[in-house]
This record gives sequence, C-alpha cells and structure tokens, in this order.
Amino acid sequence: MERKYWKESVIYELYTRSFKDSDGDGIGDLGGILEKIDYLEYLGVDTVWLPPIYVSPNVDHGYDVKEFRAIQPEYGTMEQFDTLLAELHRRGIKLVLDIVPNHTSIEHEWFQQAKRSKDNPYHDYFIWEPANDDGSPPSDWRTHLGRSAWTWNEQTEEYYLHLYSEKQPDLNWDNPKVRQEIYDIMRFWLEKGIDGFRIDAVNVISKDRSYPDADEDKLQAKGDEYFKNGPHIHDYLQEMNKELKKDFEFFTAGETSAVHDHDVLKYTKPEWEELDMVLSAEATELADQDEDKYKSKEWTVHDFREVLRKWQKDVGDGGGWFGLYLSHHDAPRMVSTFADDGKYRIESAKLLATLLHTLRGTPFIFQGEELGMTNYPGFDSIETIKEQEAHSYYDLKVNEQGASDAAIMERLQKKTRDHSRTPMQWDASAQAGFTTGTPWLPVNPNYKEINVQAGMDNPDSVLQFYRKLIRLRKENAIMVYGGFEIILDDHDQIFGYLRRMDNEEWVILLNMTDKDASYDIPSECVDDWDKKHCVISNYPHVDKENTLRPFEAVVYKYVK
Ligand code: NOJ
Repeated sequence: MERKYWKESVIYELYTRSFKDSDGDGIGDLGGILEKIDYLEYLGVDTVWLPPIYVSPNVDHGYDVKEFRAIQPEYGTMEQFDTLLAELHRRGIKLVLDIVPNHTSIEHEWFQQAKRSKDNPYHDYFIWEPANDDGSPPSDWRTHLGRSAWTWNEQTEEYYLHLYSEKQPDLNWDNPKVRQEIYDIMRFWLEKGIDGFRIDAVNVISKDRSYPDADEDKLQAKGDEYFKNGPHIHDYLQEMNKELKKDFEFFTAGETSAVHDHDVLKYTKPEWEELDMVLSAEATELADQDEDKYKSKEWTVHDFREVLRKWQKDVGDGGGWFGLYLSHHDAPRMVSTFADDGKYRIESAKLLATLLHTLRGTPFIFQGEELGMTNYPGFDSIETIKEQEAHSYYDLKVNEQGASDAAIMERLQKKTRDHSRTPMQWDASAQAGFTTGTPWLPVNPNYKEINVQAGMDNPDSVLQFYRKLIRLRKENAIMVYGGFEIILDDHDQIFGYLRRMDNEEWVILLNMTDKDASYDIPSECVDDWDKKHCVISNYPHVDKENTLRPFEAVVYKYVK
C-alpha cells in the first residue's frame, strides 16, 4: 500500500466555538486556539481540522456560509487566522479547513440575487423547479429530518431545493460557474498555505435532476437514497482534483453519509483521483435507528464487528482509505453512547481510544474525547438546546405531528449534537477555564474531575493514554499499514483482531462490555502465543487466565 503522510496522521477536530474563549464573550475563538496551541503539540496530534470559521448567520453553526473568504467576526480576524496557521506550521502541525460545497446560507449574496428573478445571473447557481399542477413540490424528496426538501420562493414562483434546512439552499453543481466558484474559494485558502479540506456532504453534490420519486417503503427521513452518489459526482471530484492538485499539495477527507464499501472504493482508490479518504459515520450510527437518528437502537458486539469488517476488510483490502471516528461535532460523546460514562468511564474511554488507533484508517479525535468527556446531563427541555437540527426535529414531532414533549425530549436528551459542543474542560477553575464570561453552552458539571490539567497531572489518565497511543502509532508502521483480520469471530463480548506486517503480528482484544469476558486463545496465534508481549493495555496489566475484565483492552505484539 502506498505510504502517505495523511494515512500516518492523527487528526484533531477542534470545534472553535467551544475550544477556548480569549475575549470573555463566552464563545471560543481563534485567539483562544492560539492561547492553547501548545496543548496540541503536547497531545502529539499532527493535523488539526477546523469546522467552518467563515461568516455565517449561524443557523447551522457555520455550515450555512454567508461569505466563504472571510472569518466570522465572533471568532476573530484574518490576521489571527494567518498567525494561527504560521504557529501550527512552526510546530509541525498541519491545518485542514472545512469546505461546504453543497449549499450556502440563504443570506449568501448568490442566493440573495438568485431568488429575485429567473433572469438574474445567479439564478442558475441554485436548483429551482416549478410546482406540480396541484401546487405541490416537484418531488417527494425529504431532508434528513423528514421535511420536504423544497421551499417555495414567491418572487420567482418556484421551489428551491435544500437537502438540509430551508436556510441552506443547495448549489447547482451542474452549472460550471458554480464549480469554478468553489474551486476558486478552495484556491484562496490553499494559497494561504493550508494543508487540506474536509469536504462537507460531498456525496450529495450531484443530483438526478429527473428527481425520481422515492419508493414509499424507502421514504425515510434520510431521503439520501435518492440523491447520494449522483450521476456526475465522480466527474466533478475528478475535475476538482485536476483544477487544484496541479498547483497545490493538499489532501481531502470527504464527509460521505450512507456510503458503502463499493462506493468508498470508487471515491478513494488512488487511480480514480477523487478523494484521499472518506469519513463515514456508519459505526457511529449503529446506536441510531435507520429511519430516525434520534431514536436509539440497541447494538451488540456482533453489529459492531460486521460494520468494521466491511470497512476494515472490504474497503481496506480493496485499496480504499477512510478516517476513523466515533465522536465528532454531530454526535453525542462516544463514551456515553458506546461505552460507560459512569463506573468504567476511564477504562472504557481508553478502550475506544485503543480501537480507533489500532484499526486501519486515519484516526480523528474530537476535542475532549482525549479526556473522556461525557454527555451533558442538563439538556432536559428544548430551551436548553441550541443547535437548530434538534429544534427543527422537536418542532416537527411535537408541534406538527403531536408527539409528547416528554417522549421527544427523552430522545434529544440522549442524542442532541450539543453534547459534543459543550465547552472544552481545561481546569477546575470557574467555567472549566473556558471563558471568563458566560459560556454559550453550559459547562458539564463534571469539569472539576474531568479536565486537561487533571489529565496532565495523572500518569494514568485518559489523556496520557491518548498521548501514548499517538506516539505508538508514529513509531509502529504496522498500526497504519498492517493487514487486518478479525479473530474470535463469534464472541458476544470481545471484539478481537490482528494486524500483520512483515514478521510482526499484533493481537488486539477489546472487551466491549461491563462483565468479565473469557476467551480461548485465538487459533490464528496459538503457535506463537507464548512469545507475545503487551504493548499497551488499559488496566495495570496482570494476565488473568484468558479473561478480560470489564472494558479491558489489551494489545499484544509478537515478532516471529
Ligand atoms: C455535516 C456537518 O457535519 C453538519 O454539522 C452539518 O449540519 C451538515 N453537514 C450540513 O452542512
């Protein structure tokens, strides 16, 4: 497999708004990142990804862009951005920005012009269709929350398409001018010297403009059955590369929801020259019901294994590449969803970290994950939640469909995206050291125990464990490039796998439950089992007779 620095990297998702506030307005900013930049070096990550920091009315916290070439004033200035980039580079850390090519804000000048008249030069920057004879929208496409994806525009007497909120109109990628505009924006940031892009919602930019009606049985909130991986998606991505890669060296991580193994290969096989890696939430979504992500689903170790088998074996063996994450700014805290945020918080946070750093793929750490940060306990009424998607969901279910407040709040309490967006916990001082003012979202009350300073002071902390894993990954190419095999295939509690390279083999055993789990020594390793030694584990390691304790994670290595 071809070696690339972005395969070897560990990428840190830094959510500016919640990372560190430098001016006391309660909102994290670029000045705050500059204050804490040494922490990124201390942690050992080699790339930072910033979700959108561009001018935005903040309907979707930056994913509704009003100006693509300017910094949101509450985050700081372009000068601060330039300083940040230089300071990261001075420390050997790369910077990746989010680009949002599928939609803009309704406040973007292009849309403001486009909606005025059919002959406005910007009209064809967006996707417009007349109403059906009965006045209904041109198709039954729905947004991922289940509302119609079409909104009426009085001025031109047409509907416009929006796969997300009606305040985020979709751009018309079939218009070559739109494509050039986006490439120019990317060029603007590349000229500043950034190192890559996370490309938002990239697999829905090309639509089938015959708008095929959804099959009733597939007509789910997700709707993306009908517009993902559209007819020209591969042409457009290849064009993007041709336009930009001749002049700049950078990598792309495409956010691709509902993309499966064979699609991933098309997007990321080097010979296709499209994306360098895809980011898929398939594992994260195991805890969500398919038709409604706010409804919880029970998952088992078997489900987990099957999803990972697909990505690790089918995609990995096929030559595709992907990012690995279980937490990001759209998901609740991973330790609360996939492990135990109570009694075994520390062990289980370390177990998930072991998983993410020993699988194939590029690990993405979401800020605070490295402390074992947990869901916030206080999202108990809709007024306590800030993010618009949850509000839109609440409105749809309670106000339009008549569900009870209690039933919907029970779902949101577990699943709102705000769980990941509560302020970073720096120390035990007021507001966890995040701000001297009132934070835009409350600080989790567990900050006195869970914070960076506490993690720095304790050699057994989750933070130190992350540092160790990141170091190990840099020192051991097998963690990046080794082959992957599942072992203990039928086990109900343990997810086990091998990584193999040259004459070296690593055995990774993860007990994903809160009960002891015994196992037979995997037959694949039996000959050499005595020669193994433990590389890392989340318990002070005393081998118990082929038994893993609750949430025990252990990595053995042997050299043949
Ligand atoms: C995915 C982003 O991660 C999410 O935060 C956003 O709401 C949607 N794309 C729409 O841009």
